[in-house]
Amino acid sequence: MLIIVTGCSGFIGFHLSNELLNNNLSVLGIDNMISSGNVLQNWRLEQLKAKGINFLDVDITNKAELNKKIKETNFSGVISTVYHLAGLAGVRQSVLEPKNYYKNNIMGTINMLNIATEFSGESFVLASSSSVYGSQKKRIPFVENETSEIPQSPYAFSKLFAEKISRDYSNISSLNVSSLRFFTVYGPAGRVDMSILKFIHNIINDYPINVFGNGFQERDFTYVKDICDGIIKSSQIDGFEIFNLGSSKPYSVIKVLSTLKEIINKEPKIEYLPKHFADVDYTWANIDKAKSLLKWHPSTSLKDGLEKTVNWYKNNKNWISSIFEKIN
Ligand SMILES: NC(=O)c1ccc[n+]([C@@H]2O[C@H](COP(=O)([O-])OP(=O)(O)OC[C@H]3O[C@@H](n4cnc5c(N)ncnc54)[C@H](O)[C@@H]3O)[C@@H](O)[C@H]2O)c1
Repeated sequence: MLIIVTGCSGFIGFHLSNELLNNNLSVLGIDNMISSGNVLQNWRLEQLKAKGINFLDVDITNKAELNKKIKETNFSGVISTVYHLAGLAGVRQSVLEPKNYYKNNIMGTINMLNIATEFSGESFVLASSSSVYGSQKKRIPFVENETSEIPQSPYAFSKLFAEKISRDYSNISSLNVSSLRFFTVYGPAGRVDMSILKFIHNIINDYPINVFGNGFQERDFTYVKDICDGIIKSSQIDGFEIFNLGSSKPYSVIKVLSTLKEIINKEPKIEYLPKHFADVDYTWANIDKAKSLLKWHPSTSLKDGLEKTVNWYKNNKNWISSIFEKIN
């Protein structure tokens, strides 16, 4: 039985693969190594290689190449689970290059669904996003069956569409599919284009921090270890299900910065910029369904999660700083 993790060199894919390998499972990791912060991707991949991951450097939107490379592994059995995390992330960037987001997130998902069904896959776990909820009128937690039909960005649309296609595959085949709506994931070796690691780098180095809007926009920040627990549990679901995976405790950007100030013991230098139109005011997961069907309970507090992330940054400061120096 084989487990495939697409996007294994990305942030969440790395942590998930790491956990699966720690449990002595055989993992075929797939990634085309394209996201920002290549040095960080290489670092993650080296850690996984040291633990025995079988790695394919391939673009999942290229079906012919994908099939060829999988065949070359001489794998002839059954795929137990495809954890499909590869894709282009980032709401704001998707507004600048919508076509790329549709291609990677929709075509890439279709190709991986085909691989799963061709190899009699048992389950398929799709990385979806809280972005599919768009802007909600009332400030209440988002429930899985109350999705906006008018997503606010090409990224959100690509995730919503990938969910619908995955549901269709589950209907017409024996593939079990879980679509997981992640809420702002953070943690060690996180993405350099996301707020938390950038905030840590800028506070430690006395650089100004750009905050879009008034800083009171809230995100349901969720620690990556909790997310990986939920991802693994969701592979046991029958049929098709959508789950919110979030801490269900939204915090404002200002609160995150004040918690980092306490941990790092330095004052952040905030510079306010206008709110981006594709940014929503808050995200907040209702996780009753994941609690009841998956027995999933996120357990890492914001303070603990941030402390672990700051420690990771400090232990890897020399090389991770050089990535920020290049992209800033
Ligand atoms: N991090 C979050 O807060 C968050 C929130 C909601 C949803 N998600 C989703 O979860 C998934 C993982 O997110 P992440 O934060 O780890 O992102 P990431 O950018 O760190 O990882 C994505 C990985 O996919 C790879 N990839 C992209 N296109 C590919 C292609 N065509 N072929 C092969 N590999 C490709 C990239 O090289 C990268 O390593 C993404 O689908 C993202 O949209 C993430």
